Amino acid sequence: MDRKFWLGTGWKMNKTRAEGRAYAEALQAVPDLQQLPMQLFVLPPFTALAEVAASLAGSGVLVGAQNCHWASAGAWTGEISAPQIAECGAALVELGHSERRAHFGETDVAINAKVKAVLAAGLRPLVCVGETAEERALDAATVTVARQARMALAGVAAADLDRVLLAYEPVWAIGEGGTPASPDYADAIHGALKNAVMDLHGRSVPVLYGGSVNAANALALASQPEIDGLFVGRAAWTVEGLLGLARAITPIVEARPHAPDRADRN
Ligand code: PGA
Repeated sequence: MDRKFWLGTGWKMNKTRAEGRAYAEALQAVPDLQQLPMQLFVLPPFTALAEVAASLAGSGVLVGAQNCHWASAGAWTGEISAPQIAECGAALVELGHSERRAHFGETDVAINAKVKAVLAAGLRPLVCVGETAEERALDAATVTVARQARMALAGVAAADLDRVLLAYEPVWAIGEGGTPASPDYADAIHGALKNAVMDLHGRSVPVLYGGSVNAANALALASQPEIDGLFVGRAAWTVEGLLGLARAITPIVEARPHAPDRADRN
C-alpha cells in the first residue's frame, strides 16, 4: 500500500472561477511547495476545475472533482462524466460525500458504479464513508463504514486498487456545528476500514480523515498510525489555511514510520 501522506481540500459549492484561479496561483507561488513532504490536492467546483488544474500543472498538487456520473456519456442532463473530468486535467474524483448521500440520495450501489467509472477513465476515486450520529449512538460506526467501503469497492480489479483512496468522514464531524473525531476514535475506525478492504481484496488502501480538521487538531490526527492523510473543508479554503496545516504536520509526516503493508502484518 502506498505510504505517502495526503493533505487536501474540497471546496464544496464555493469559489468563483476568479477566486479559484487566485487560490491556485497563490499556491503555485509558494517557494517551498515541492519540498512539502505530503501529497497536496485541491477539489474545486466543476466550473473552476479546468483552470485550477491548468494553473497547478507542474506544481505537484493534484486537482480533482467532487462528484461524477457513472456513465461515460449519454442522455444524463446536467451530469458530468469521468472522461469529461479527466479532460479538464483532473487526477482525482471525490465520491460519496455525506452531503451527496444525504441531499441527493446517493446510494452505495451508485457509488460503486461511479468508482468503476472513475477508474476506467484513468483517475483516482476518493471515496468518502462515515457513520451518522445515530449510527454511532447505536454502536454501529464500524459496521456502517465497513459496509459502505465494501459496497463502494466490490468488483474493483486488483490492479486498480492502487489508485483507490478512502476518506473516513463521520457525518457528525463535518461542517459548521461538527465535532472533530478524537484521534484515537478515528484511528480505530481507520484500522477497521483497512481490515474490511483487506477482507474483500486481500490488501488495503490509504484512508484519509475528514471532518472539522483544523490547525488545533491536525497534528494529533496526523500522528495516528492508521491515518494516511487529512481531507479538509473550511480550514483549507484559503492558501494560508492549507499551508498552515501542511507546516503543522510536516514534522510528524517526516518522522512517520513506513509501516509494513497490512498484508505483511496479518
Ligand atoms: P470540514 O469539511 O473540514 O469543513 O468539516 C470536511 C468535509 O466535508 O470533507
